[in-house]
Parts: sequence; structure tokens; C-alpha cells
Amino acid sequence: MNQIIDPFNRRITYLRVSVTDHCNYRCHYCRDEDHQTHTKKSQVLTFEEIAKIVRLFAELGVTKVRLTGGEPLLRKDILDLTKMLGEIPGLTDIPLSTNAHLLPGLASKLKNNGINRANISIDSLDPVRFKEITRDGDLDRVIKGIDAAISVGIKPIKLNMVVMKGINDDEIESMTEFAINRGLDLRFIETMPIGLAGIEAVDRHYSERDILSRVRASYGDKLLPIQSKQTDGPAKAFKIEGTQTSIGTISAVSNNFCSSCNRVRLTAKGELILCLGQKDSVSLRDALRSGMSDSKMKQLILDAITKKPEKHFFDSVIDNISSRQMVEMGG
Ligand code: GTP
Ligand code: 5AD
Ligand code: SF4
Repeated sequence: MNQIIDPFNRRITYLRVSVTDHCNYRCHYCRDEDHQTHTKKSQVLTFEEIAKIVRLFAELGVTKVRLTGGEPLLRKDILDLTKMLGEIPGLTDIPLSTNAHLLPGLASKLKNNGINRANISIDSLDPVRFKEITRDGDLDRVIKGIDAAISVGIKPIKLNMVVMKGINDDEIESMTEFAINRGLDLRFIETMPIGLAGIEAVDRHYSERDILSRVRASYGDKLLPIQSKQTDGPAKAFKIEGTQTSIGTISAVSNNFCSSCNRVRLTAKGELILCLGQKDSVSLRDALRSGMSDSKMKQLILDAITKKPEKHFFDSVIDNISSRQMVEMGG
């Protein structure tokens, strides 16, 4: 019993852990305008509980654990958690997904406590537009956070840009230049219809095909396809020859990549979510707090995995996904 294989013969090696559902930003595609987070401290997994659950997953063959949020760096003493996770046998990759607002003060401590690489959301290089998309975010601060991460040697850093028609699609080229100039990787993401905010944002759909044709217009035959590894996320990536940069696309809507899914999610409240596009979840927190033994917990995880769906139905079953906000699931 040291592997998690789902009903579609996919091996689960990647756990995305949302450490908090609070965020200091309010990106349009991620949470509704009036969305408030009311989660109480007692509802949220403690670091000891997270480490315990991650250890069980590691014993079941998970090697990669991504820390996400909300904004994971809002969780006080996050460095204690990264240290605890760093001691779990079997984990080979503990990356972070962040909006970078708090990175200026934390980059060096994160690097010294087990965070070697990070993915950073940045949807515009125009401060006014950035403020609009994030509902009051501070671009200058985010760029300082990116530079702090570069200077302490967090590598690779992947920039995530959610591309929205008529909002920021004119920045595909300038964001690529920004990434190349700093030696960073960049992924262009199609907006997913999660929560009402996401569903509205899908009206702004800008397809992978259009993104790639823009990138090809600038870099043509300099784009060299990169073979992905089993534990990788869903990006399709290309190295830009002669640079340090790779460009990727994450096309959940126009090009369903679920057949190679390798991941499940743990929310801040300890729910195990089997797929971003489904309602199903199992409370690992309640099981843990009831004093369940390790072997029973592992069986609970394996039983939950039998319910992992073959794919999301973003194009047809909106009902399934409108009840959750992306900010609660961490992307
Ligand atoms: P790497 O480990 O660096 O490959 O990262 P990642 O792409 O797995 O993680 P990140 O947090 O940077 O997420 C990038 C985008 O991919 C976000 O928009 C996520 O919502 C999306 N994403 C990640 N996993 C899934 C998935 O299972 N299904 C869908 N539809 N989208 C996903
Ligand atoms: N569609 C696509 N990507 C999203 N993210 C958040 N909400 C959405 C959405 N509706 C992305 C963020 C972040 C990553 C973790 O998830 O931009 O980079
Ligand atoms: Fe916060 Fe990230 Fe969601 Fe934006 S995408 S609201 S930064 S969790």
C-alpha cells in the first residue's frame, strides 16, 4: 500500500496544500467581489495536523507538496511548517505558489527553510491595471518580491499570468520580455470557471491557441518543446532557445489535460478535494481529530481516491463548481 492509483490508472504523486483561505489580494477571477473569508482558527488545520497528513501521503508515494492558499505567506510562522515538511522522508519537492506581496521580507528565510522554488502570480506590468485586476494589489511590491526571490537563489521561479481578453492580453509580449530579462519561466493560464468570479471571467477567455500563435510570432523556431515529468503540473512548456526562460501554457478549458492528472488538494480546513472541477470532498481533519489510526487514515485516503473523477466538466456542468471560490482551493 505505498502508491495511490486512481480508477483511471493515474498515479497520484502531487499534493497541493492550501495553508490558509485568507488572501491579501482579491483577484477578479479568483474570488467574487463581495466574497469574505470567515474561517475561524479552530477550523483550520494546525501545522502539526498538516505535517501528519502530508506524512501519510508521503508514505503512500506522494513526493511533491505544493504550499498554496489563499496567500500562504499570510500564515504566521509559515517557516515552522516548511521546516516540518522538510523533515518528512520521501518528499523531494516542496514548492510555493504566492502573490509575492510578502516575499520582500521572507524570501531569504524561506530559502533557508526548505523552499527552493516558487510560482508567482503576476497578471500585468502596468501598476494601475495590476491594481484593478487584484482589487488593490501593489505591483511595485510584487516586483520587489520577485527580485528578492531571485537574489536569494530561489530557482526556478515561474511567473503565472492569467490571460484575459481585453484586460491584459496585450501584455503577452511584454511579460515574456520581463521573464527573459530576469531569467524566469513564465506560464500563460486560461481562466477557469471556478466560482461566479471565474465564470464571469470565462467571458474573457483567451485560448492557448491564440496565446501560442502570439508567442510564435515573436520567437518562431526558437521554441523548443520540453518533455514533462510525472510529478509536473499541467503546463505545456517550451524553452526559448538562447535564453534561461521557458514559456508554458495551462489550458484547462480549451484543451482538457485531465488524462495525465497526478494531483489532489487539501484545503486549509482539511478537506481532501479530488478534482478542481468537482464538489466531492472528504474531511481528513475530522478523521484526524476523532483519533483515527494512521492505517485507517490511509485507507480513508485510498477510499476517497476511488471517487476521483475522470475529468472536470468546465464546459458543461457549471453547477458543480460555482459553489466554491478558487481562493479557498489555492489554484
Ligand atoms: P509546477 O509544479 O511548477 O508545474 O506548478 P503547477 O502548475 O502545478 O502549480 P501552480 O500553483 O503554479 O498552478 C498553475 C495553474 O495551474 C493554476 O491556474 C492552477 O489552478 C492550475 N492547475 C494546477 N493543477 C490543476 C488541475 O489539476 N486542474 C486544473 N484544471 N488546473 C490546475
Ligand atoms: N483560472 C485560472 N487560474 C487561476 N488562478 C486563480 N484563479 C484562477 C482561475 N479562475 C491561478 C492564480 C495563481 C494560481 C495558483 O492559480 O493566478 O497563479
Ligand atoms: Fe489571492 Fe492568488 Fe487568488 Fe489572487 S489568485 S485572490 S493572489 S489566492
